[in-house]
Amino acid sequence: MKLSLSRGSRDSLSEQIFQQITSRIHSNMLTSGEKLPSVRQLSADTGVSLLTVHKAYKRLEAAGVVQSIHGKGVFVKAVLNESPAMSSYDWQLSIPTYLTRSSFHSRPKTKYRFDYSALNSGLLPTIYLADQLKQMLEAESSILGTYGDVQGDFLTREAFSAYFQNELGLSGSPDNIIMTTGLHQGIELIAKTLLGPGDVIITEAPTYPGALDIFINRGAKVIPIAMDEEGIRTDLLAQVARAYHPKAIYVNPTFQNPTGRSMSMERRQELLYQAQLHGMFIIEDDSWSELYFDEKPPPKPIKSLDDEGRVLFLKGFSKALAPGIRVGAILAEGSFKQSLLSAKSSSDLGTPLLTQRAVLPFLTSTRMLEHFEKLRLALELRRDKTVAVLANSFDSSISWSVPEGGLNIWLTFPENVSTLDLYEYCLQHDVSFLPGHACYPYEPPYNHLRLTYSILNEHDLEEGLKTFVALTNAFLKQKI
Ligand SMILES: Cc1ncc(COP(=O)(O)O)c(C=O)c1O
Repeated sequence: MKLSLSRGSRDSLSEQIFQQITSRIHSNMLTSGEKLPSVRQLSADTGVSLLTVHKAYKRLEAAGVVQSIHGKGVFVKAVLNESPAMSSYDWQLSIPTYLTRSSFHSRPKTKYRFDYSALNSGLLPTIYLADQLKQMLEAESSILGTYGDVQGDFLTREAFSAYFQNELGLSGSPDNIIMTTGLHQGIELIAKTLLGPGDVIITEAPTYPGALDIFINRGAKVIPIAMDEEGIRTDLLAQVARAYHPKAIYVNPTFQNPTGRSMSMERRQELLYQAQLHGMFIIEDDSWSELYFDEKPPPKPIKSLDDEGRVLFLKGFSKALAPGIRVGAILAEGSFKQSLLSAKSSSDLGTPLLTQRAVLPFLTSTRMLEHFEKLRLALELRRDKTVAVLANSFDSSISWSVPEGGLNIWLTFPENVSTLDLYEYCLQHDVSFLPGHACYPYEPPYNHLRLTYSILNEHDLEEGLKTFVALTNAFLKQKI
């Protein structure tokens, strides 16, 4: 097992081992009953003393996430007390691997899924897209026999460029656009190009867990900066930048995942100013800025303020259009764009032509804008329903801010409430959500959770919310 440990960190080495193994267990990369490397083995893999590893294992045991069986070893705590068996795959543990955390590794599927930040497929134009795809393949089956351009299909890049210009106020020529397989790949390509072990990147706290997975798995050090109602606290940025010399800051400024908050225009300007001052890139994740409510469009992207290639703008249409297609794009300029192209080439030689062309008819017709119009209304109703149920069911000890767009609402509980325990309790009753600790890199608070109101159909949303609040109230009562 390979862990990314830093001797310069404020956390002790045994604390870092404890956190990283806990993180793997929480994200199911280490599963129930799996054997941990021996103290001797992990000490050899990580180059830290036997005593330090021993101390970390004792903490894991005290925290109840592993159990030590005399003569056999240390195992991830088995569910339902099944006794851990030796597996014929145990030899694999003697070869170090690098991944530390994964938020999407395996999540139990429940009847009432509030954990999955995506749209109900009934809200998506799947029939139209399927129809277009069929017509396209009949007319041009050669698409299947062609490797696309590494940078992306020119027609699709042209369509993205026009969309950026007309709808987001961004001037990006097709030459500065790289097509990606989902927005997530855009983050990965940037991280692969920019970040190596020990490099520093800033994120909002909390942030999109998938981005944390990418940065941490590259061995980078993530410095989370707190948010307020206007977005990331730029007043804290200068001090962090001076102390850690970050290479980039990753933000999801519009209807942020997980909080649903949007960064004000003043904050966007200040962030860009700080990035210029301290010589770092801004990675701007725009997953769903079209999905605003109450007819109140959000401020323009930070990228619209940038004229020196400082902001790496990422757009994805998986959420609002077709997660089964996962087309996204990076808008970047200068020599960094060239480096990103190399990264794209070494990653997959280019996004499949088929999926890029599949969204093209939609993107270039008025259907796209009409679709967003309908989606805004449908999601606004869901947001309203969710907020109404929460407001009628919880007292003032539980708080949230009403999202002005997007898919998620972020709940804050009193500090002594563990949403991880609540999650386990809800899972037993077929309800799931995202426990908030996944949205922080190292020392997470455990008293937040994210509910996604867009994935269930209307009927299940209503029933699911009722079930969730009843379970939560019952759970809180048990604690008193
Ligand atoms: C903020 C954010 N960025 C990026 C992604 C990944 O999106 P895609 O499916 O386009 O790769 C997600 C998915 O949940 C997300 O929430």
